[in-house]
Amino acid sequence: SAAVPFRGVRQAGIITPAQDRMHFVALDVTPGTTRDDLVALLRAWTRATERMTLGAEAAPGGVAGGNPLAAPEDTGEAMGLPASGLTVTMGFGPSLFDDRFGLDDRRPEGLRDLPPFRLDDLDPARSGGDLCLQACAHDPQVAVHAIRNLIRIGVGKVSVRWSQLGFGRTSSTSTTQATPRNLFGFKDGTNNLKAEEPELLDQHVWVQPEDLAAVPGSAWLAGGSYLVARRIRMHIEVWDSTSLQEQERTFGRRKGRGEPMGGRDEFDAPDFDRLGADGGPAIPRTSHVFLAHETQLGGIRILRRGYNFTDGSDGLGRLDAGLFFIAFMRDAHQQFVPMQRALAAKDRLNEYIVHNGSALFACPPGVAEGDPDDFWGRSLL
Ligand code: HEM
Repeated sequence: SAAVPFRGVRQAGIITPAQDRMHFVALDVTPGTTRDDLVALLRAWTRATERMTLGAEAAPGGVAGGNPLAAPEDTGEAMGLPASGLTVTMGFGPSLFDDRFGLDDRRPEGLRDLPPFRLDDLDPARSGGDLCLQACAHDPQVAVHAIRNLIRIGVGKVSVRWSQLGFGRTSSTSTTQATPRNLFGFKDGTNNLKAEEPELLDQHVWVQPEDLAAVPGSAWLAGGSYLVARRIRMHIEVWDSTSLQEQERTFGRRKGRGEPMGGRDEFDAPDFDRLGADGGPAIPRTSHVFLAHETQLGGIRILRRGYNFTDGSDGLGRLDAGLFFIAFMRDAHQQFVPMQRALAAKDRLNEYIVHNGSALFACPPGVAEGDPDDFWGRSLL
């Protein structure tokens, strides 16, 4: 339940060992809000977030110590709870760079909407957004409290476009963590990028200055990262009546210990040349792991940091459950897009899932240590 440092070269919540709970919100800037209003909001968000990540109230005396005639500056439900590893990660969506704030010449080349993919069934009410806030913590109340208070601070300037709760991590982002399981019961995050691999992170996760050279005004994103969010519904009832063999062939990994088919231990490298008992490849060519593996994608990798969700039921006797996919990368159009195209074309998993929400955000670098004036996105605004 210790605190995760808020300040640093990078924003927290990207390579921070993935916490167990998440509350994600996408917001739109309200008409009439000016660039100065936006700066004031980002300053206020930065201050409040720094306090909350230490386990403190959003403002000093915020719960019950303020003016009795005004609404409290902290909603109160996290009072007495520890910091719980809270991180909040902020990002800017492509739509923020239209003509409203004079930011057109500051838009990084890579911050443009994702293309449509085969089999997508996107709900506009669960997609897009001018800004995002990803709160992760070990206690759901702490994550929800953080988002709720940031929304409250933004009243009149921003409004909620959509939000998503996640109740269990589906990824490891550090070698110190055990691999969790997704709602199909498989270990998820085995072959993920990890915090302990700084060279790979520079190569695949952090935006490098040369990536921004095409648009000089976009240099503010250097050291940041792109966040891709996809709400993926999983047809768990169909899955639950599928044979174990079919389940394992779908992923190309065994369900029990998570080893690649034909391998022995969870972290064995998949051997795509190995033949199975039936004479065909031990890891099917239509399996998720084969298609998503860097060897099939010209070396592309991403940092996955998703969450399981269950949002009640759908009125037809099925749970509205799935995986809220979040991934961080250096360039979504060169990493997520070709990867998702390959999966959408052939992945055996497509029979059991459907993507119904999508968003892309650019997360600026972190708020500098020892600089009380710094705030989220200062380099942009
Ligand atoms: C690997 C599940 C969607 C990219 C895996 C693994 C599982 C899994 C069980 C194997 C363990 C591991 O290495 O983490 C799922 C489920 C999904 C989903 C249930 C949807 C509900 C996606 C999407 C992408 C993606 C949308 C990206 C477009 C990857 C990658 C790997 C992976 C890159 C690692 C492959 C490797 O290098 O071995 N996924 N996944 N997954 N997945 Fe997914």
